[in-house]
Formats: sequence, structure tokens, C-alpha cells
Amino acid sequence: MDASITNPAPTSNALWQLAPGYVHIWLWQVASHPLDPKELTTLDSREHRRAERFRPALHRAQWVRSHTGMRHILSGYLGCAPADIVFRRGSNGKPFLEKPSNDAPNPPHFNLSHSHDWCALAVARDLDLGIDIQIPHPVNPSLWRRVLTSVEKTHMTTLSPNDRDPAFFRCWTRKEAIGKADSQGVYIHLKRTETGLLPLPGNSSIIAAINASGTPTPWHVTDLNLPASLYGAIATSEPVTIQLHALEQIDLIL
Ligand SMILES: CC(C)(COP(=O)(O)OP(=O)(O)OC[C@H]1O[C@@H](n2cnc3c(N)ncnc32)[C@H](O)[C@@H]1OP(=O)(O)O)[C@@H](O)C(=O)NCCC(=O)NCCS
Repeated sequence: MDASITNPAPTSNALWQLAPGYVHIWLWQVASHPLDPKELTTLDSREHRRAERFRPALHRAQWVRSHTGMRHILSGYLGCAPADIVFRRGSNGKPFLEKPSNDAPNPPHFNLSHSHDWCALAVARDLDLGIDIQIPHPVNPSLWRRVLTSVEKTHMTTLSPNDRDPAFFRCWTRKEAIGKADSQGVYIHLKRTETGLLPLPGNSSIIAAINASGTPTPWHVTDLNLPASLYGAIATSEPVTIQLHALEQIDLIL
């Protein structure tokens, strides 16, 4: 486990206390059984329309459950019902929570990632963040030759074949996390932002080559040590301490 990641034993109140400089990461698996229409009741009309577009039904059920899970978790921080949360979308569609009134405290920042039946939600106060998780699969070398920087590609050729897929997923999730933190998505970073292939010390600082105004921007990137062979990374605008709430802890609130 990375030195900057702690596993708290939360009590119900402590779960929602989010001190400045901390990121809570919620990790859970969604069920695959058919959707009960009641499960859609906490979602808004936009989410209903998105849910309708998913095929097959398994993917719809998993996506709906990722959003009901996200709403339940965020409702704990906001002190409101899951159905009352109003999501706004910023540049490139990145979701955020709006301040309900001028004198209300800033709502938390959050970012969601899915991979198959796994979901991860990162929540923090007053900092920008992006998270990515991936279930690994065998990677054809033609993929990393296409999507990495020249330095990363050269490094990849020096690794033993068994080390290449782990290196690829470390690198990919870091680029995705940066692309989600700055809302630009992964593609702009693939061949321009060096994120490296080897495990990072906690809170490593990576210069993202491009931001929306063309200025190089530093992001603090942390590799996440996750169960079930998942790869994950988080990028934040400040150095952070990460608290991972995994699996059975989410049963406390759903
Ligand atoms: C959305 C995106 C950033 C991440 O997608 P991904 O890796 O396939 O999926 P993940 O599961 O990790 O993340 C998806 C979640 O990220 C959030 N998200 C959506 N847009 C986002 C953005 N621009 N930045 C950060 N997070 C975003 C949403 O919560 C989304 O969940 P939802 O689909 O259930 O609503 C990716 O699709 C992408 O790179 N898109 C291009 C961004 C873009 O629009 N660029 C400009 C083109 S005009």
C-alpha cells in the first residue's frame, strides 16, 4: 500500500468528514442481476435518457448502479437525499456540484470511474481531481506503440514481456487520471505527457504538457494500490493524503 494511502475504520459520522488536503476514494462492485425499475428512482431525467441508451441490459444495470452508488455516497457529504443532488457539467462534460447558495460551503469535488463491474469515486474539497481505474487485459504491443510517448515506448522495449502489461496499465491510468482532472480526456495526453512506466512514489508530480490555455500544468499523481488486480491512479491539483473506503464499507450506506 502506498505510504500516502490509509485505510480508516470509519464510524458513520467520520465517513463524511473530509478535511482539506484529503481525498476519499470509494471503490465498489455493482451487481449484474436485472434492473428493478425502483433502482432508477434516484436518477434525474438526463441519467434516465443515458440509461436508456445502454445495450445490453447488463451494461445498463451496471451503469445505473454506478450512478445510484455515486449519488448515495455524495449524499452523505451533502447531507441531502440522493435524488436531490443536482449535477452540472463543466468543460468537456466534466460533472460537478454547484454551490446551492452564496453563503453555503463549497460542495465537494468528485470524479467517477468505471471498469466492468467496478466503480471508483474520488471526493475532495477545494482541489481539482481525476481518477481512473482499469481491469487489466492482455495488451497487444501495437497499442502501446500507438499511444505512448517516444520515451515511454523506448522504455517499454527494455522491459521483460511479463512486465509490459502492468507498465502499460500504470501509464494509461495516470494519463486518464490527468485527462480527467483537467477535463480534456486522455487523448491529448497520450503522446505528450510523460507519466512513466514504473511504480511511482506517492504524490509524484507530473507535468501535464498541455492544458486548455496551452500552459504546462503540474498534476500530483498517485498510483492506487487496489484489490482484484485493478489498476488505478488519481491526479490532483495539490499533494493529498488518500483514504480508501473499499467494498464492504459501502454496504454501510447503501
Ligand atoms: C469521459 C472520459 C474523460 C473518461 O472516460 P472513460 O475513461 O471511458 O471512463 P471512466 O469510467 O473513467 O470515466 C467516466 C466518468 O467520468 C466523468 N466524466 C465525463 N466527462 C468527463 C471529463 N471531460 N473530465 C472528467 N471526467 C469526466 C463522468 O462522471 C463519467 O461517468 P458517466 O459516464 O457515468 O457519467 C473520456 O471518455 C474522454 O477522454 N473523453 C473525451 C473528453 C472530451 O470530451 N474531450 C474533448 C473533446 S471535444
